Amino acid sequence: MRTELVSQKFEFSFNESHFDKIRELVFSHTGISLGDEKRQLAYSRYSKRLRALGIDDFDDYIDIVRSGNESEIPLFVSAITTNFTSFFRENHHFDFLVNEVRRLLLTQNSIRIWSAGCSSGEEPYSIAMALLSGVPGVESADVKILATDLDSEILDRAFRGVYPKEKIEGVDQNMVKSWIKHGSNDNKGYVMVHPKVRGMVSFKQLNLLESWPIKNSFDIIFCRNVVIYFCKEVQKTLFSKFANNQKKGSQLMIGHSENLAGVCDSYRLIGRTIYEKI
Ligand SMILES: C[S@@+](CC[C@H](N)C(=O)[O-])C[C@H]1O[C@@H](n2cnc3c(N)ncnc32)[C@H](O)[C@@H]1O
Repeated sequence: MRTELVSQKFEFSFNESHFDKIRELVFSHTGISLGDEKRQLAYSRYSKRLRALGIDDFDDYIDIVRSGNESEIPLFVSAITTNFTSFFRENHHFDFLVNEVRRLLLTQNSIRIWSAGCSSGEEPYSIAMALLSGVPGVESADVKILATDLDSEILDRAFRGVYPKEKIEGVDQNMVKSWIKHGSNDNKGYVMVHPKVRGMVSFKQLNLLESWPIKNSFDIIFCRNVVIYFCKEVQKTLFSKFANNQKKGSQLMIGHSENLAGVCDSYRLIGRTIYEKI
């Protein structure tokens, strides 16, 4: 039986039909499938948008999003996407990356890496730092990192490359010494990535579920902790598109709780959450 979610503790009325409409919109804009257990999360994330807009009815909010309102859509998306990330998250991928790029540079001068779903930038900057520290000659080679995310707010943060200093706790000290600058005066308590690191990364807003204006073939793709909320069908489409943008022998890194089994047979597993295009 469908439950009515109007209760004293809810500031706004939020019934089953509101939740269904919200999750349809979330799915169409992000590919994220919100299960029934995400009802409270949806309510709390979107209540903030109602408050910010000074409205008190979910129907009005749904109308705004359905109308394709240009200023609200990015905020609608940001409100639900989970942006958690960190420098050198799942560190084994960076060890693999360094060895692979060293190997590739023996036979090619141009290397393209894609951080798809880069959030606030820690992932692509970690890629750049790992390469600058671990691959001799990388600065003179044509090595570029494309970093994309759906969420334009988080991309602004990524582009700035400025983080609270707590974000670098646990990062290798040699890496910090070489590639992280500590802020002073007004910027005390913040750190900034070195211009050489920033210089290797280009940020672009991109919804992975829409068409990609991308012509490159990527030697290595990082798409980690992005597809966990996508349904199987969406994952299948996405990974087959990645496969179309990679040559045989290129690699794809996915998140620790993700798996290509039953999703895409264009890759074979060659390491912990590391796949190779076949
Ligand atoms: C949890 S973060 C992962 C960040 C990083 N890859 C990592 O592993 O640390 C997931 C990111 O995927 C992005 N994302 C979600 N749906 C997306 C879509 N349809 N297209 C592009 N990015 C998307 C979110 O905005 C978020 O920044």
